[in-house]
Amino acid sequence: MGYNNIRMAVFISRSARDTINFGKEYAKTLRAGDVVILNGAMGAGKTVFCKGVAQGLGIFDEILSPTYAYMNDYGGKLYHYDCYRLKNGAQAEALGLCDYFYAGGVCLVEWAENIKDVLPENCKTVTMEILSDSERRILYE
Ligand SMILES: Nc1ncnc2c1ncn2[C@@H]1O[C@H](COP(=O)(O)OP(=O)(O)OP(=O)(O)O)[C@@H](O)[C@H]1O
Ligand SMILES: [Mg+2]
Repeated sequence: MGYNNIRMAVFISRSARDTINFGKEYAKTLRAGDVVILNGAMGAGKTVFCKGVAQGLGIFDEILSPTYAYMNDYGGKLYHYDCYRLKNGAQAEALGLCDYFYAGGVCLVEWAENIKDVLPENCKTVTMEILSDSERRILYE
């Protein structure tokens, strides 16, 4: 959603381990307060990518999918969202989930399209495409 292909770079991942390592490197490009939209189908590897980003940010807690919690807070440094079960932005707002976009930590947002009306401006995007069982194309900026 809303990305400009011209500015996107491509990384081909051949394993979950590759994607974790890519996430670790990508984390170095992030600044406090960045909100990153993670596009991609179920099983594309968005949560795997988040594990790498967390490691790159020096977070060594286990990164679990926040599908039921909507958002996991890693010490205010990283907020990992999974909006799959959110109906709309108003629901996210009502649950108090939007405040964290402006709390100074890095936000990684899976299924952001479900709450697109409440996302901040100037989000970064990472798009993951499934090429085969083990291969993914990752577009990033
Ligand atoms: N190159 C790869 N990169 C990332 N994951 C891979 C790769 N190859 C295989 N996989 C597997 O694909 C699955 C990706 O799962 P993950 O939970 O990260 O997906 P997701 O995009 O977060 O899905 P959902 O939308 O359901 O949250 C994992 O089982 C992982 O081991
Ligand atoms: Mg996920």
